Amino acid sequence: MKTYTFLLQLFLHYANMSFVSVSIQRFGFCCLPINWAGLDFEGKSKRFYILLQGGDCLEKRELQSLVDKMSLKEKIGQLTQFTPQYLGREDGELTGIMGDFAVDQVYLDSLGSVLNATDRNEVIAMQREHLKKDRLKIPLVFMRDIIHGYRTTFPIPLGLGATFDPQLVEEVSHVAGTESAREGIQVTFSPMADLCRDARWGRVMEGTGEDPVLNAQMAAAMVRGYQGAPGELVKDPTRIAACVKHYAGYGAVLAGRDYNNVDFSRLSLYQDYLPAFQAAIEAGAKLIMPAFTLFEGLPATASEYLLKKVLREYLKFDGVAISDWGSVGKLLTMHIADSQERASELALNAGLDMDMMAGAFVRGLSDAVAAKKVAVEDVDRAVLRMLNLKNDLGLFENPYRFIDAHETLPPAPSSESRRYARVAAEKSVVLLKDKNVLPISVKSHIAVTGPLAASQRILGAWSSYGKHDDAVSLYAGLKNQFENVSLIPDPISSDPADYANFDVIIVGLGEREDDSGESACKTRIELPEDQVALIRRLQHTGKPIIGVIFAGRPLALTNVVPYLDGLLYAWFPGTEGGNALANLISGKAVPEGHLPMTFPRTTGQVPIYYNEPRNGSPADDQHPTKFTSRYVDCQNSPLYPFGYGLSYGHIEYGKLQVNQPVLTDDQPIQITVAVTNDSDYRSSTLVQCYVGSTITSVVRPVSELKSWVKVVLEPNQTDQVTLTISVDDLAYVHSNLERFADKGDFIVRIGENAEEYQELTLAYQ
Ligand code: NOJ
Repeated sequence: MKTYTFLLQLFLHYANMSFVSVSIQRFGFCCLPINWAGLDFEGKSKRFYILLQGGDCLEKRELQSLVDKMSLKEKIGQLTQFTPQYLGREDGELTGIMGDFAVDQVYLDSLGSVLNATDRNEVIAMQREHLKKDRLKIPLVFMRDIIHGYRTTFPIPLGLGATFDPQLVEEVSHVAGTESAREGIQVTFSPMADLCRDARWGRVMEGTGEDPVLNAQMAAAMVRGYQGAPGELVKDPTRIAACVKHYAGYGAVLAGRDYNNVDFSRLSLYQDYLPAFQAAIEAGAKLIMPAFTLFEGLPATASEYLLKKVLREYLKFDGVAISDWGSVGKLLTMHIADSQERASELALNAGLDMDMMAGAFVRGLSDAVAAKKVAVEDVDRAVLRMLNLKNDLGLFENPYRFIDAHETLPPAPSSESRRYARVAAEKSVVLLKDKNVLPISVKSHIAVTGPLAASQRILGAWSSYGKHDDAVSLYAGLKNQFENVSLIPDPISSDPADYANFDVIIVGLGEREDDSGESACKTRIELPEDQVALIRRLQHTGKPIIGVIFAGRPLALTNVVPYLDGLLYAWFPGTEGGNALANLISGKAVPEGHLPMTFPRTTGQVPIYYNEPRNGSPADDQHPTKFTSRYVDCQNSPLYPFGYGLSYGHIEYGKLQVNQPVLTDDQPIQITVAVTNDSDYRSSTLVQCYVGSTITSVVRPVSELKSWVKVVLEPNQTDQVTLTISVDDLAYVHSNLERFADKGDFIVRIGENAEEYQELTLAYQ
């Protein structure tokens, strides 16, 4: 069947006919306006309706025979990714490293992939042109950074981390993937699985925080959301392939400065940085992107240890390793290579498959093969991985998979995707302070002010096709729900008389959207001076002040918290931010978010993270003494610990009950705790389970998060929450890089955050 379909499509392609394929998918019959010869949305040319069997794809041997038919240049083209300018799209000039060389037409005609196509019309045009030119008619695959939504923007990934809700993250990733697929994007450069401990680094907004277990669950959830269950990618056109990045340890950039050096041990690689990559790979991620950074002195792009030993042998990854932007060329900048030939040799031999935007393979790889520095078999292996990816996406059957013939480019967020965006934003916001001012009645007279009060620039960096015009500002959200809301322009009077008619002041604060994200690092993560001054001035009004902070990173808030009566940390909440915040402020929704990164008191404490290894000279903040590991001008403890987050009302934890004191290999321990809402509001808590060890073979963290359960309780409701501890929760990486658990005592801590818990000492025998 598939061969006939393929031939029929080829025939139609050459006959230059338009048709609409009707696929038998899991949805039943569905009409896809797809065409190999050129889409005809206007309906001017003849249409044919053809039955395609969804889910078919080429056999492995058919892919291998394609590789066998390819010339070396065609293979190298297949291993290259360029932006649309290289295919003559967009009349923009080529600049930077790419502007200074000409690319042989054969490479372009057999190009493997395009990144950053802007919309479906461009995708269609490029694919159509490409299929005319490529001798073997191997479709292009289109990739783009879909980091937290395509047109509908969800909270930034750090905000998604704060939901502690992998199921929700899976669902919003599917919505993001569906919107992308509709525009012809088939691969997203997401999830970013980097462990982030340094809030100065602008890219902390792209990750889900400082905890390996949380990161692992979120990375896997995103992969499942984009790709679906194993095998679904080829059958379900709303699915796209995921590229997990940046492998590995990019988050460790020194001084929080982007693209800077990193230096950490193999032990740390295995215990801190790999788990989230491993989880993404186990969830089926089809691609991986090595980081810009080094490992043991070698750029990840040229590290055989990372790309072969760890990635292929230990993690058993068999997908495509695609470089980051221009990374193969950076081997020259870093003086690891002195020519494109040598750079290509180093990268390909290390295990890299695709060259993104360096043009190094097209300039140097054939010379490296001719000089026998690179074996053709290794080139073939990389090409086969690319063809496998295309096959897994069903591109050989249908190179225009699920491009939707909607009129606008791309259409405004649907009410359904807005609903997802609102729920995700509600669950991502963290209530940091509440002196019994929240929630407030919809009849309250509210003054709204501050630099971000009415701003629609709350989507956050990497918002892909997100439009600020679609975004609901804090002020607009409040207006939608509260009866008496007035926007007070800044600078603002602080004369109490001017506020006599208001019950409360809500202030929108924070950083600019482009102050975080790639290449947006900071040396000071305090709120700007003028915002601190504004809060202090408003205090003179005598009215309760609720701060709403928009930010792409943890900020150091010591100098404003004392002046605020309530504080909601909104991250960059995305398209529905204002409505979500209004729901929280009115109590229609209750705060459920918890910090996925530790919040420092001051920038000088950074990097600060809860799971740091035990210290030989531990400091006690209450009784500071000389010769302990501390500062003379600041406590060690954070302003807000990892896992922190309030809700309305109050939930009381009962005493821990354990089903058995001894853990064995086949008998996990169950710990139960009763949680009771003893307040008049609906309330939420995140029951967090940390494990600490007593005596270990290498120095270990005091506490490590292992699992959590989110609970939402009505007033007076009690729930029994049970957490399970198995041997795997005790396992850690030893000096020989093997991960296993030691027999002996261990400590379990159960509580509301990394610093407030009850603990038990148990034993593993
Ligand atoms: C560079 C960034 O480091 C990476 O995260 C991104 O996916 C690529 N550019 C492509 O845009």
